[in-house]
Amino acid sequence: MRLSVIGCGYVGLVTGACLAEAGHEVICTDIDAERIAQLKAGQVPIYERHLDKILVSAGKSGKISYTADAGEAIRFGEAIFICVGTPPRPDGSADLSAIDHVAQQIAAEARSPKLVVEKSTVPARTGLELQRALSAYSRGGNGFRVASNPEFLREGTAVEDFFHPDRIVVGVEDQAAADQLREIYRPILERNFTCPVHAGECPDIQKAEFLVTTISSAELIKHASNSFLALKISYANAVSDLCEKLGANVEEVTHAMGLDPRIGTQFLRAGLGFGGFCFPKDIQAFISLAATVGVDFEILKAAERVNKQRIDRFLEKIGKALWVVKGKRLAILGLAFKANTDDIRFAPALDVMRRLLEEGAEVHASDPEALAKAKKQFPQAHFHEDPYKALEGAHAALVCTEWDEYKKLDWEKAGKVMARKLIVDGRNLYSPAKIKALGFEYVSFGRE
Ligand code: UDX
Repeated sequence: MRLSVIGCGYVGLVTGACLAEAGHEVICTDIDAERIAQLKAGQVPIYERHLDKILVSAGKSGKISYTADAGEAIRFGEAIFICVGTPPRPDGSADLSAIDHVAQQIAAEARSPKLVVEKSTVPARTGLELQRALSAYSRGGNGFRVASNPEFLREGTAVEDFFHPDRIVVGVEDQAAADQLREIYRPILERNFTCPVHAGECPDIQKAEFLVTTISSAELIKHASNSFLALKISYANAVSDLCEKLGANVEEVTHAMGLDPRIGTQFLRAGLGFGGFCFPKDIQAFISLAATVGVDFEILKAAERVNKQRIDRFLEKIGKALWVVKGKRLAILGLAFKANTDDIRFAPALDVMRRLLEEGAEVHASDPEALAKAKKQFPQAHFHEDPYKALEGAHAALVCTEWDEYKKLDWEKAGKVMARKLIVDGRNLYSPAKIKALGFEYVSFGRE
C-alpha cells in the first residue's frame, strides 16, 4: 500500500522505515527541510538500533523516499500517519498545534480519500477534533477517515518492538478503516517479513493481538499504559526509600514482588527514576486531561512527585559521601535518559549535571551515544568518549544511565586513575559486595 508519514522524529522514522521494510511504499516528510536533506543523503539523524540498516535497504529497493514538500507526501499515500511532536505546554497539557497544522495541510493538499492515522501520542478526543478540522478546512469534501494507532515502541528497541509487538491497537469509526489498518499490519500479524533484528531466527514470541477499539479508547490506552508504567517505577522508588530507612534490600523486595505474575518483574528498578520524552510528558498530559473532565488523578501526581525527588535523593547521597561538592572533580557515567539511545530529553543525568555545576563541581561526563547532543547544552562541562578518561582524577563516579558498557566497566582499572574510589550508583548496576571488595566506597539506592 502507498503510505505517507508526516514527521521524521523517533516515531515517524521508525514507523516509516519499518512499514517500508514490511513491503509498503512509504514517503516521509518533515517541516525541517534540513532533516529531509540529511535523510536523502543517507544520513540517519537519530541513533536507534537497526534503523540505519533498514533505511539503507528500503532506500535501495525504492520502498522509502523523502520529500520536504508536504503536499507531495500527502497526495502520495492512501493512508497518512501523523507522527509530529506533541510536547508539553507549561501547564502540562499536550501542545497539539503541530497536529492542527498537519490537519490543515492534509485538508488543503489531498486530492483523493485518505485514512488519516494519529500515531503521535495525543489526549483522548483529539481524533474527534482532527476529524472536525479535516472537514472544516477541506474544500472538496475528500472523504477523510480518522483512526488512532498508538505506538508502544521503546527507544533503543523500537525496531524490534515494531516487528514483534504484543498488541496493535487501532481506534476507528468504521469497519473500512479497521480493514485498511489490518492490511497495513498484515505482514507483522502474519509474520510475513524478513526480520531485520533476528536475521530470520526470530524467537518464538506470541503473535500480536490486533485490537479494534473506538478512537477515544485507543487514545486512552496509550496514556493509561505509559502512566501505569511510570506509576510502577515510582512505586518501586518509594519502596526503595523505605528499604533504606528500614535496612531492607530493594532488589530482594522487588524481585520477590515481581514473581507474582499479577505484578510482574519489569519496571520495578529503583534508582534515578524515569526520564525521556514519553513518560514525563505523558503522565502530565494524562493528569491534565483528567482535570479537564473533573477527575483528580491524585495517584499520578504522587508518581510524578516521587520521580522528581529522585534527583534530590541522588544529590543528597553525593553530598553526604563527598562532604563538600564545590571544587570536586566528578565523573558522570551516562547522559542518555536510558541505555541504547542518544536521547537526552528529560534525562535525569542532565538535571544531576546542572545541579552539580551550580554547586561549583568540575563535571566530566561520558556516554556511548549522547555526547554530541549533551555538549551543546553544557559548554561549561567536560566530555569524554572514553569513560576511563572521564574517571581520571575523579573524586567520585556517578552512574546515571544503565548502559551495558558501564555494567562491564573494569573498576579495578578505573580505581587506579580515580582520585578517590567512590561510586554513587543511580541505577543499582553493581553488586555492593563485589564493588566493595575492590576497595570502593559504594552508594546506591535502597540497599544501604
Ligand atoms: C516508553 C514506553 O515503554 C513505550 O511503550 C512508549 O511507547 C514510549 O514510552 P521509552 O520512553 O523508550 O518507552 O522508555 P522506557 O524503556 O519505557 O523507560 C523509561 C524510563 O524509565 C527510562 O528513563 C528508564 O531508565 C526508567 N526506568 C525504567 C526505571 O527507572 N526503572 C525501571 O524499572 C524501568
